[in-house]
Parts: sequence; structure tokens; C-alpha cells
Amino acid sequence: MSTISPVDKQPLSSLDEWEDFLVERYPDPNTVPTAKPAVGPALEKKKEAFRNYEADARPTVREFYRLNHQYQTHAFSLAKRKEFLGLNRMQMGVWEAAEYLNNLVDDSDPDTSMSQLEHLLQTAEQIRKDGQPRWMIMTGFMHDLGKILCLWGEPQWAVVGDTFPTGCAYSDKIVLPKFFDANLDSQDPRFRTRNGIYEEGCGLDKVALSWGHDEYIYHVCKDRLPDSALYMLRYHSFYPWHREGEYSQFLDAKDRENLKWVNTFNPYDLYTKSHEKPDAAKLRPFYEDLIAEFFPGKLRW
Ligand SMILES: [Fe+2]
Ligand SMILES: [Fe+2]
Repeated sequence: MSTISPVDKQPLSSLDEWEDFLVERYPDPNTVPTAKPAVGPALEKKKEAFRNYEADARPTVREFYRLNHQYQTHAFSLAKRKEFLGLNRMQMGVWEAAEYLNNLVDDSDPDTSMSQLEHLLQTAEQIRKDGQPRWMIMTGFMHDLGKILCLWGEPQWAVVGDTFPTGCAYSDKIVLPKFFDANLDSQDPRFRTRNGIYEEGCGLDKVALSWGHDEYIYHVCKDRLPDSALYMLRYHSFYPWHREGEYSQFLDAKDRENLKWVNTFNPYDLYTKSHEKPDAAKLRPFYEDLIAEFFPGKLRW
């Protein structure tokens, strides 16, 4: 189905490998012992550890980023929007889509890893336990459904990965930025300046981020959830913005207002995988009710 797939080989044994890397890069502050503020040699050691997350990345993860950074050009990101955002592939209800996504089987260890449905439930259940609003529980359940792109033959590097703006200079806070040297956009003078093809303050909605499951699920849900939820869906992998504070020159007032929601959501996504495996059959009635409230009937995918 894909028209632009320069490689068939999938470097990651499972999509979790990328997410596990993110947890290493952005450790859970609640599980990392926060000793006294580091000074002297301790501070040097801390800096060293911070620098090394890239060097320590597994070869499979490095290869994944290499492909992602090489092939996610501005033209690619626009072409994929055209290819998928007509939403004319399937019609499915939300629970059905989650079960469909669960067909994504990979080479990960079934004893220790979570299924896609389990990850969605874990994220949503922690949001629920924390007494967050129902729209946010719904958002937690929806957030990775865009990974069904993998089931339609899209390579891993075009479905997951920390997203970044295309059409302008790359931030050096993006993971493994040296791999952008092989991206054709690096040689295009239009895209090499700080703002590239965009205007200062244009708003993130105008910025074509690298293509992936976030942009796709945002479009599936666009008219059904509040802005706060849509920001969580659309930007949950945009780590250069929500974790690193980069690309602030493009933000408008709405982006600045909603960043707090993206940040509120992130720990539920990153740090719930170690929790107990959820019982999908037991939880299903609650989620069917929630789905009936926000997404009655079938959705276009
Ligand atoms: Fe995700
Ligand atoms: Fe996720």
C-alpha cells in the first residue's frame, strides 16, 4: 500500500524498543532517586550519563533513528498526509480498532512485553485512577491507535519515533541529529534556516511535523474531542517541543496554552508500562461506555 518505502527491513524487534529508549532518555522522576544536588565530580558524572544515552542506545534503536532521520523529509511528510488523511481505508468502532491494532505481532518477548491493547488500557487506567476527566481517559485509550499504520505496510520509521518539524533547520536536541546529514532536506537551502518555510508565531498547526501515528490519530479524532485532548494526541511524540522546549518560535497562543496538557499526558504514556497487566475482558464494559459517550458508531480510518 505504501508508495514510499525505501526499506523493508524493520530494525526494531518491537515498537516498544523505541519507547523503552525514551524512558531511558527521560527517566521517571518518581523512580529515580533524587540525591542531594550534584556538585564537583558527582556533577561531572551526571553530565556524562546525560551525554551517553545516545552512545548507549541499542544498535537496533540507532538504526531505527538513522532511517527515520534520513527518510522523513518535508516532501515525505506531505505525501503521507495525502495518502492517509482521506481516512478511506476502513470503518471501525474504537474498541474494534484497538483489537485490530492488537494484531500487530512482533518479535518481543510475550512474557515480559505488553500488547498494544494492554498499553492503551494501562495508560487510560492510570489516568482514571488519578481522577482525571473522562475525556482524558478516552484520550489515553486512543493515543496509540494510529499505530495501525504498521498493519498497512508502513515501515516503523514512518509510524513511530520522536517527531520534529520538517521544512526548517533541525534542533540539535533531537535524538542522534547527525543522522540528518543523510536527509535530502539538509541540502535544500529553503529548509536550512531556523524558520525555514514557516513564519515566526505561525502556530504548530501550520508546521508539518515528521509523519507518524500522532498526526494520523489526531485527524481521526479531530471533531470529537476537546482541544486539550487533541494536543495530547497530535504532539505526544513531539519530544523536542514538550520535553526540550525547542521550536518556540513557531508557537501561537493556543499552542502555549495547551502545552500543559501534552506535559500532563506524557508520564501516563511513558511510565505506566511497568504496572500490572490490565484485564481487558474485565475492563471492556467501562471502555465501551466511554466510547459510546465520545465516539458512538463507527469511525473512518
Ligand atoms: Fe505514541
Ligand atoms: Fe503510547
